[in-house]
Amino acid sequence: MADDPAQGSGYHVTLTVAGAAVTVVGASGAALGHIAALRDAGARVTVVATEVTAAVVDLAERGLLTWHARDFDADLDLPGTRLVVAATGDAARDGCVAARCQAHDVWCVTPAPAVTRPRPARGEVTLVGAGPGDPGLLTLAGRAALRAADVVVTDRLVPLAALRELAPHAEVVDVGKVPRGRATPQHEINRLLVEHALAGRRVVRFKGGDSFLFGRGGEELAACAAAGVPTSVVPGVSSALAVPALAGIPVTHRGLTQGVSVVSGHVPPGDERSSVNYAALARSGTTIVLLMAVATLPDIARALLAAGLPTDTPAATVADGSLTHQRVVRGTLADIAERVAASGVKPPAVTVIGAVAGFDPTSVDAP
Ligand SMILES: C[S@@+](CC[C@H](N)C(=O)[O-])C[C@H]1O[C@@H](n2cnc3c(N)ncnc32)[C@H](O)[C@@H]1O
Repeated sequence: MADDPAQGSGYHVTLTVAGAAVTVVGASGAALGHIAALRDAGARVTVVATEVTAAVVDLAERGLLTWHARDFDADLDLPGTRLVVAATGDAARDGCVAARCQAHDVWCVTPAPAVTRPRPARGEVTLVGAGPGDPGLLTLAGRAALRAADVVVTDRLVPLAALRELAPHAEVVDVGKVPRGRATPQHEINRLLVEHALAGRRVVRFKGGDSFLFGRGGEELAACAAAGVPTSVVPGVSSALAVPALAGIPVTHRGLTQGVSVVSGHVPPGDERSSVNYAALARSGTTIVLLMAVATLPDIARALLAAGLPTDTPAATVADGSLTHQRVVRGTLADIAERVAASGVKPPAVTVIGAVAGFDPTSVDAP
């Protein structure tokens, strides 16, 4: 595992962890980042901590890691372990774990010592768009805000590996919605942001894609403004444009279309909560990009067909864009819903409808 050279001088060691047993001790914010990064690197991760965030519980319940809800015990936790990450959020406890590892000849990583910074007179909130999931698509400004944070209020569909770079004292509040599980109401998220900032902390709201595109960022900004909390925004790489791009779909390819419409399909056409005019959308001549529309795709396709969009209009659904398990299902407006259902693709996914969904770079003449 390579340390980021930007973090400072020192020895940078690369350790192959694919298939190896790795133990993360503690449940600090940095621990969550290490867990994500180690999983991405193919390690078999065990977490030892009395309390963990919802993200860890979710991973454990899905069998993607092992969680022991107890304190670290060298006799139980070190045999067969290639690497230990001690990230309890308490330097003294991390030091004890590291000492036991050294005694057992096991590699141990501890977070960098905290840099003491003056606490700002007033706290602040930074709304950081995290991009579609790949840590490489988090902006430099977003990473800098995370490193400076005292508190990170995070969603689940963000590049959690980026949390490795948090200051050791930083607290992570996981408000991510677990599928079929609990969700933190937006008013409670707003309250958390304001409360931590008024206590003088630097708060980052870490949100998938861009905070202002179906991201409730406007509501969070308004709540902070109402409480007099200084707020700034770090825009994120939105899945609406990035996910099609990652599948090679140029959403406004010159000569094919002069625009793109981004629509939320979280409720179907005809539903009293839907404010989308699908008949107008079908006649708009723009590429249609649908978010939150896996379950509603059959109804949306039917509405667009009924409004006159040709059956052979190219369509593509891209799931888990930017992640190693990204999948693309291609078809036409007539059969995309059926193909998506048959493929077993699950959210998160973006569907593109329009000529650009059939874009083939090998058949385009160079300018
Ligand atoms: C609540 S919206 C948030 C959008 C986000 N603010 C953005 O700008 O990307 C969630 C939807 O974004 C899309 N999405 C987010 N990440 C994605 C990914 N990695 N791959 C495919 N779709 C994604 C899916 O349509 C998902 O249902």
